[in-house]
Amino acid sequence: MADARELLDAGERLGPEELRALQLERLRASLRHAYEQVPFYRESFDKAGIRPEDCRSLEDLARFPFTTKADLRENYPFGMFAVPRERIRRLHASSGTTGRPTVVGYTENDLSMWADMVARSIRAAGGRPGDVVHVAYGYGLFTGGLGAHYGAERLGCTVVPASGGMTARQVQLIQDLEPAVIMVTPSYMLTLLDEFERQGVDPRTTSLRVGIFGAEPWTEQMRREIEERFAIDAVDIYGLSEVVGPGVAQECVETKDGLTVWEDHFYPEVIDPLTGEVLPEGERGELVFTSLTKEAMPIVRYRTRDLTRLLPGTARVFRRMEKISGRSDDLVILRGVNLFPTQIEEIVLRTPGVAPHFQLRLTRTGRMDSLTVRAEARAGATPEVREAAARSIVTAVKNGIGVSVDVEIVEPESLERSVGKIRRIVDLRPRDTGQG
Ligand code: DLL
Repeated sequence: MADARELLDAGERLGPEELRALQLERLRASLRHAYEQVPFYRESFDKAGIRPEDCRSLEDLARFPFTTKADLRENYPFGMFAVPRERIRRLHASSGTTGRPTVVGYTENDLSMWADMVARSIRAAGGRPGDVVHVAYGYGLFTGGLGAHYGAERLGCTVVPASGGMTARQVQLIQDLEPAVIMVTPSYMLTLLDEFERQGVDPRTTSLRVGIFGAEPWTEQMRREIEERFAIDAVDIYGLSEVVGPGVAQECVETKDGLTVWEDHFYPEVIDPLTGEVLPEGERGELVFTSLTKEAMPIVRYRTRDLTRLLPGTARVFRRMEKISGRSDDLVILRGVNLFPTQIEEIVLRTPGVAPHFQLRLTRTGRMDSLTVRAEARAGATPEVREAAARSIVTAVKNGIGVSVDVEIVEPESLERSVGKIRRIVDLRPRDTGQG
């Protein structure tokens, strides 16, 4: 990538000192904006005995209170907005598996900043102006589709707004419109892979060069699987609606070493999820974001519940975050042992004879929780291969994670396929007897 530097935007060209100065200036303005315009922040800052002007260095941010998903729910729908409703150009909402959804809003400037950040992300992934970009993230209240869409347009690409679903047609469109870039959840990319095979089309022969995958956790093993099967570069994009949507952080294709956080707009911290204390760079904990430039809905120290660690920058001046290992909501505590679906993914994907499709089933007999890993056999895997695969997964989980699980190798094509974010865990335990 000899020409990379010429392609960078002004923010990406900042020196480390300039970046910190810009962050502090923006942080102070953003805290003031939140405090003056949003009663929730005024109350929470007052309660903590802190004022925006007390923020004199980036480290001072640690003295400000956190914001949680529950805070957003309580202020549903418009209570967190810092501008009159008439200045809001767009709303998105997260589905919310329980209770009220959370609604987020954007001013015209917010939408423009977001498009800039997604354009920057696509470029970091290896997309270029003039490329055709196939967007298979869902369009609608979910931020994935429209977020990717406007970013790709901003970069100067030709967008195919495919959205999720109608899988057979997606494969047709990819063959006919010849996209260089696809933006989709990694689990839906696997659904597309099946469909290519069903139609007898070799997925390695498409025009695709780059896949930009996010909205759910995925592993290095999954990257390898997708890169090999499609002959593309597969890179990670991260974001959440409460902060903006996709394009908060993006992996650079030239390094593939974790996601560069676009921290000239979104300031990251990693905290100890139990004590709330800020952890030093390199330590794993919960990711927290503060927006630096958002107008409609500034967000201060939002607890994402995503687990990762911060690392120094490589491809850019900005810091990186390691691939998300999981959300605290997806943590399974099985007989005292902590386990994330991504750990099972790593094991399943390196086991011969099984396809990259699996599901985790939690059941309870008496007071005893059990986990069954249901993994799909690859087409043509003999009964011997399947048995060996089951034994190998049991052993790898026991040795690697330290807990006994059951493994069921199921027929090819029998597990439900994803059209967007996949649900790995099927919790069949009775609700009322939980030990919390
Ligand atoms: O998922 C935004 C997005 C769309 C990101 C398309 C990337 C691509 P939400 O629906 O609000 O927004 O869900 C946010 O999804 O807190 C993470 O738990 C998870 N997530 C998003 N990106 C990644 C990723 C969008 N790259 C929640 N790796 C976040 C792991 C991710 N988890």
